[in-house]
Amino acid sequence: MTQEVLRDGFVTLWPTIMVQRLLPGHEANNPMFIEHIEAMERQHEHGSKDLTTDFMSANYFELDLPHVGWLRNHINQTVQTYFREMGMNYEIRWVIQGWANINRLGDYHEPHNHPRSYLSGTYYVKMPRGTDTESNRSDVRPNCITFFDPRATANMTAIRDDPYVAYEHTVQPRPGLMMMWPSFVNHFVHPNLSKDTRISVSFNIVLHWSDSYLPDTA
Ligand SMILES: [Fe+2]
Repeated sequence: MTQEVLRDGFVTLWPTIMVQRLLPGHEANNPMFIEHIEAMERQHEHGSKDLTTDFMSANYFELDLPHVGWLRNHINQTVQTYFREMGMNYEIRWVIQGWANINRLGDYHEPHNHPRSYLSGTYYVKMPRGTDTESNRSDVRPNCITFFDPRATANMTAIRDDPYVAYEHTVQPRPGLMMMWPSFVNHFVHPNLSKDTRISVSFNIVLHWSDSYLPDTA
């Protein structure tokens, strides 16, 4: 698009805005998530599938339970704030589609993005401490999540202290953390190397389409 008024000075282009929030009230709610998700997994009836791979079978956020309502409210508030931060100051409507995950020893999720949604996120319920494997390479980062620069090769010419050096953003989640990011961002969930379970709830923010969303690209 052509700038109508030439801006004098620095111009920041193509931001990738993510959210990292430690949700107030997580200590009280996480035991309810754990009990409920473990019970769901015991009752899961799809044979070869588990909660993560069968993520389309039910929407976790349609459950009428206090801890689900607590997380739903925080996600909705955060999405509203996200749009304001992006400068999108008009009515936008969405639905939250979510699913629970239990990762056991060796479980991981290869690099992927979330097509057909606008924002994606994860709320962390339970994280293992340490590892139960005998020996690993020194660079393993069990249970972390890594996000990759969507501009693929933007780090190629990076030199010290310029903002393109880091082509990845890696976080060691802790219980109570919620992260949210544009759904096009590729991310990788590192293997769980503990016999203890890693429990989380992932979600997509899917927009209810309106023609008022069409950008003015003339
Ligand atoms: Fe994902």
